[in-house]
Amino acid sequence: MKRILSITMLLGAALGAQAAMTPEQIDAKVADLISKMTVEEKCGQLVQRSGVGLTDYMVNDIKGGAVGSLLNEVDPETVNALQKIAVEQTRLGIPIVFARDVIHGFKTIFPIPLGQAATWNLDLVEQGARVAADEASSTGVRWTFSPMVDVSRDARWGRIAESAGEDPYLSGLMGVAMVKGYQGDDLTKPNTMAACVKHFVGYGASEGGLDYNTTWIPEVQLRDVYLPPFKACSDAGAATFMCSFNDICGVPSSGNSWLLRDVLRGEWGFDGLVVSDWGSIQQMIPHGFSQDITEAAYQGAMAGVDMDMENGAYNEPLIELVKAGKVPMATLDEMVANVLRLKYRLGLFENPYVDLKTANRFYTPENLQAARETAVESMVLLKNDGVLPLAPGKKIALIGPMANAQHDQNGTWCFDLDKTHSVTALTALQDRYGKDNVIYAPGLTYSRQRDTKGFDDALAAARQADVIIFVGGEEAVLSGEAHCRTDISLPGAQSQLLAALKETGKPVVTVIMTGRPMTIAQDVDNSNAVVYAFHLGTMAGPAVADVLSGDKNFSGHLPVCLPKSVGQMPLYYAHKNTGRPASGIVLIDDIPQEAGQTSTGCTAFYLDAGAGPLYPFGFGLSYTTFDYGTPSLSATEIGKDGEIEVTCRVTNTGKVAGKEVPQLYVRDLVGSLVRPVRELKGFEKIELAPGESKDVKFTLKADDLAYHNLKGERVVEPGDFQLWVSPDAASGDPVPFTVK
Ligand code: BGC
Repeated sequence: MKRILSITMLLGAALGAQAAMTPEQIDAKVADLISKMTVEEKCGQLVQRSGVGLTDYMVNDIKGGAVGSLLNEVDPETVNALQKIAVEQTRLGIPIVFARDVIHGFKTIFPIPLGQAATWNLDLVEQGARVAADEASSTGVRWTFSPMVDVSRDARWGRIAESAGEDPYLSGLMGVAMVKGYQGDDLTKPNTMAACVKHFVGYGASEGGLDYNTTWIPEVQLRDVYLPPFKACSDAGAATFMCSFNDICGVPSSGNSWLLRDVLRGEWGFDGLVVSDWGSIQQMIPHGFSQDITEAAYQGAMAGVDMDMENGAYNEPLIELVKAGKVPMATLDEMVANVLRLKYRLGLFENPYVDLKTANRFYTPENLQAARETAVESMVLLKNDGVLPLAPGKKIALIGPMANAQHDQNGTWCFDLDKTHSVTALTALQDRYGKDNVIYAPGLTYSRQRDTKGFDDALAAARQADVIIFVGGEEAVLSGEAHCRTDISLPGAQSQLLAALKETGKPVVTVIMTGRPMTIAQDVDNSNAVVYAFHLGTMAGPAVADVLSGDKNFSGHLPVCLPKSVGQMPLYYAHKNTGRPASGIVLIDDIPQEAGQTSTGCTAFYLDAGAGPLYPFGFGLSYTTFDYGTPSLSATEIGKDGEIEVTCRVTNTGKVAGKEVPQLYVRDLVGSLVRPVRELKGFEKIELAPGESKDVKFTLKADDLAYHNLKGERVVEPGDFQLWVSPDAASGDPVPFTVK
C-alpha cells in the first residue's frame, strides 16, 4: 500500500509540481489580482458551470470572463482547449479549475464510501483517494466533490451509500483519510485534487430518509453529531466545503451565515472555498426562503457561499447587487479571494494545462490491486455455519442478479467507469474453481425483477451443485442521490428465490452487494453463510473469490446497524437509554388474546421487531475467533485535564491469521443532558497470527468525553463513566471510571 502511495506521489513530482508558495505569497498575489478586476470579472470567478465540449456558449462565456470553474469536462484535450481560452484570451488570464464528482474512484472504482468505511482501515481509504486523484487529475480534473461526511442514520436515504455511516467519529476519520489521499502532501502537484467536504450540514438527518427533505436539528445535536466530522476535515486542511440542500430549523444551508461565517470560518478558522450544491442558492426560492433569484444571490453571498454551482445567481443578479451597493465590495472581494486562493494552492497559475504525454492514466495493475484489497477488507461476514471457506473442487451453482453485473457492482456515482473493466463474481469464481465447476443460472437477471421464469433453471443448477452461491442486492441505481426507498428489503423476487434455494437442501452462501443497510432477516435465515458486501467496484469478483475461497480472511465491520425492519429508522447504536429501556421483550405472536393493556411490560421496544438491530454497528465475523481480555486502566479516576491509558489484550484463538478491529466505547452515566448508551472513541485494526496476542492501547483523554450543554458550551462533566473495548457496539463488559 505504502508502495502505491509513494509511486503516485513520485509520479506527481515527475509530472512537474511547482514549489508551493507560502500563504503570505499567495495572499499578496490574490490581493494584487483583485485590485485589477472589474465587478464583472470578480463575479465571473464565482460562477461554476457544468458543460462538456467546446460549445459556443461555453467558449463565449469563458472568453467573457464569466466562468471561474467548470464541472464535468473530463477529456484532457478539451480541458486544455478551454483552459487556453481562459489563460490566453481573457484580460487577466485567470485559469479555470475543473471539477468532477470523483466519489469512490474515477475509472478504477473502489467500494462505495459506506463499504470503504466498513474496512475500518484508514490507510486503505487514503490509498483509494490517492488512486482516484491520480486517475482523475490525469484528465485535468483538480477538484473533486468528496468526501461526503454526512452522518447517516436512516437507511431509506439513498445517499447513505456515499457516507461513512452512522458514527461521527468514524465518519471524521474516514473523511480525513480521503482528504489526505486526494490532496497529498502538496496540492500544487498536478496529480492531486482539492477535496470538497460535503454536505455542510445535517443533510443525513433529512426527515423520513427522503432526499432534500427538511431537518430539525437542535444546536447541541448539530455540534455533537453532525458537525464533528466536518471539523475534523477542516482541521486536516481540506481545501473546500460544499453546503447542503436541506434547511436546518427553517434556514437553508446556502443562506445560513451562522454556519458558514460564525462556525466554519469564525470558530474553525477555515480559509478555503465554499461552493453551493447544485442549484442550492436558486433553490432557496422553492424552499420559501428567498423571494426571487436576486434575493437568493444576496442571501447566498451574505451567508458566505463563495461559488455558485449551476444557479444563475452569481452572474447578473450578483453583479447588480454589488453595483447597487447592496452586497458590499469587501464581501465580494473576500469571496473572490477564496476562489483565487484555491487556484494558487493548486498551482494552476503556473501549471494550467494537462500534460498530454501522461494523460489518461487508468486501470494500472497497481490501481486494480488497491481496489481489490479495499474490496476484500470492506466485506462483512455476518453468518457462517462452517460452509465457508469453499475448498477447491467444489461444484458451485452461481445464482442471483448481481453475480455478473458489470455495471451494477460498482454502485452509485460512477460517471466515468468503463464497465468492460469490471470483473464480476462469475468470471472470478470460474477462474478460481474452474469453468466446469461453476454452473451459472442467475434466476433473476436484475435486482428488481419480479417474474420467476428463471427460477427453474436456477433450481436445476442448485440441485447439481455441492454449494449455492447467491449474489444479490440492489442495482446501482437504487441508492445514491434522490434514490430513497421506504422498503429496504431485497427488491424483486430475490427473497422468494433464496427461499426456494434453501428448499433444495444444498448449503447457500449469500453475498449482498448493495448501497445501504437492508432488511435481510429472512434471507439470513435462509442462508448458511451471509456476506454483506456493499457495492464493491471494479474488482468485486476477484475480491469475492478471495474471501469465499479463504485465500483472504474477512475483516470488515459494519459502519452502520443492520435493521430488522425499516420501521426502526432512524437506527443507531449511540441512542439514548430512555426512562424505560427495553426489557422483558414480548413479540407480537406471543401475546395471548385479550391480554391486558400493560401485559407487555411498557418499555421501549417494538412488538414486531423487539429492540436493537439485526446486527450491531461494528459487527463482523472472521474465519478465526478473537478473545478479548478485561481492559486495564492506568487510572480509574481522572481530573478534567487528565487521561487514561486503556490496555486490552486481544488474542487470536482460531487456526488462521486474521485482522480484528478492537473498538473503544464510553458511556457517561449521568449528565446535565442525557447521554448516549455508548459512543465510539477509538479503534485499531490489528493483524494476529493464530495463537498470537496483542495488547491494544488507547489513550482516552477527559476531553474526549466532552459534549455540548444547552448553553452551547463544550463541557466535561464530573461523574461516573463506563468504557468497553469490544468487537462491536453491543458486546463486552463495561469497566467503570470516574471524572473528578
Ligand atoms: C449533489 C452533490 C454533487 C453535485 C455536483 C449535487 O446534486 O448533491 O453531492 O457534488 O450535485 O454534481
